[in-house]
Amino acid sequence: MSQHILVETKDRVTRIELNRPEKKNALTLEMYAAMAKALAEADADARVRAVLIHGQPACFCSGNDVKDFLELERAPGASPAAGFLRAISTAAKPLVAAVGGPAIGVGTTMLLHCDLVYAAPSARLQLPFVPLGLLPEAASSLLLPAMAGYRRAAEMLLLGEPFGAEKALAAGIVTEIVPEAELMERGRQAALALAALPPESVRMTKELMKRGLARGVQERMTEELQLFGERLRSPEAKEALRAFLEKRKPDFSRFS
Ligand code: COA
Repeated sequence: MSQHILVETKDRVTRIELNRPEKKNALTLEMYAAMAKALAEADADARVRAVLIHGQPACFCSGNDVKDFLELERAPGASPAAGFLRAISTAAKPLVAAVGGPAIGVGTTMLLHCDLVYAAPSARLQLPFVPLGLLPEAASSLLLPAMAGYRRAAEMLLLGEPFGAEKALAAGIVTEIVPEAELMERGRQAALALAALPPESVRMTKELMKRGLARGVQERMTEELQLFGERLRSPEAKEALRAFLEKRKPDFSRFS
């Protein structure tokens, strides 16, 4: 088990905590693998009725570890990141997320697969795939327009600029905004409320609501991962990722 992902099951709720605050909870391959395992175990364990995903109150997740992007370049479809996305997108049990501070890249796209999302006013979501020379993942190119409408999705995915909790609420990404001091408790209470309901009815209702897009989500995810791998090898992405690691602004002026 990864030291950066803490998993605990109590009161019929599995809690998955992102615990790498020194890197703003950037996800390494090991962390993706640990989260995929925790989700699979929660689905398989009859005692578990709901899953709560969170970081610290002021930091959810700064996205894929930028250094690990080079690992993904080799085999995107078989990577632990792909395994995590498949697990979260097919989870049968309800998923609750509590989000404060940065929620970047996969820190935002994983929320599209959660059923209830609570956000603190400090939440700063961002889908910076295009600015990084990449493209959307986690079927966000399908789910976000469906959830938020094309106009909002285009702004979020094409410009890739940060946006706050209010905008995320208006776009349907967030269920409710709660004060940062109450965020974790609100998430926990929601998970406990789900855990107290008739479990089969909860699972069947989730499955029915997700059914319309379920197949499209898996197909889109596979397609995006293939293209994502190609984009990682592109000179545009190399410039963007190098600029991040060198702490400078990228320069795309030479590309056509
Ligand atoms: N991958 C690897 N390291 C990351 C990271 C990421 N996605 N996000 C943050 N870090 C690291 C920083 O490099 C820094 O490391 P250092 O202390 O060794 O220099 C540390 O985490 C703290 O981050 P810092 O940038 O100093 O904190 P901040 O509060 O000023 O900004 C963020 C926080 C999340 C807004 C900013 O770090 C950021 O934009 N990260 C990149 C997000 C991103 O592009 N993710 C990929 C999405 S596809």
